[in-house]
Amino acid sequence: MKKIIAAMALTIFAAGAAMAADTMTFPAKMGNVTFNHKMHQDMLKDCKICHEKGPGKIEGFGKDFAHKTCKGCHAEKKAGPTKCGECHKK
Ligand code: HEC
Ligand code: HEC
Ligand code: HEC
Repeated sequence: MKKIIAAMALTIFAAGAAMAADTMTFPAKMGNVTFNHKMHQDMLKDCKICHEKGPGKIEGFGKDFAHKTCKGCHAEKKAGPTKCGECHKK
């Protein structure tokens, strides 16, 4: 029994370490923005929508990217937050 639990714990640890965090928090004076990366990955499938140059840090990520790419898609799809306070929470 102990062995099974140890093996399970190891599997969960290994899977977690190989992927980006499920949710990310971007600090902003307006209020921090919590982004569910995993949900967007699963929902959108195509990484290139946000990662033009491949997975990893996004060069120049910040206000302009967020307000164009993030908010732009929400507005276009009429789904997801478009109001300031819906993304920028305390
Ligand atoms: C809706 C936009 C979006 C989609 C779609 C998306 N990502 Fe991301 N991803 C981000 C953002 C935003 C960051 C953080 C960028 C930064 O800090 O520069 C990020 C960061 C990452 C990182 C770096 C994580 C870290 O901890 O530094 C990896 C790796 C990654 N994404 C992989 C993927 C893969 C693989 C896919 C497709 C299955 C994907 N992403 C789809 C927005 C997205
Ligand atoms: C290509 C389309 C697309 C892009 C790009 C995109 N989103 Fe979304 N997002 C959605 C859709 C669609 C929903 C609504 C999902 C639902 O309600 O089931 C959503 C929901 C959300 C939500 C509310 C759900 C939650 O996780 O609490 C937040 C916050 C959010 N997005 C933040 C972001 C941020 C920040 C970025 C950019 C880094 C981003 N999104 C980029 C399509 C997108
Ligand atoms: C779809 C989510 C989303 C919406 C809607 C949104 N923002 Fe942002 N905003 C972000 C993200 C993500 C950043 C980047 C934060 C970072 O780089 O740490 C950002 C950055 C900013 C910044 C610069 C960083 C700071 O310190 O505050 C300002 C100012 C800002 N937003 C104001 C607004 C205002 C005003 C509105 C409404 C008109 C708005 N935002 C709507 C997601 C959003």
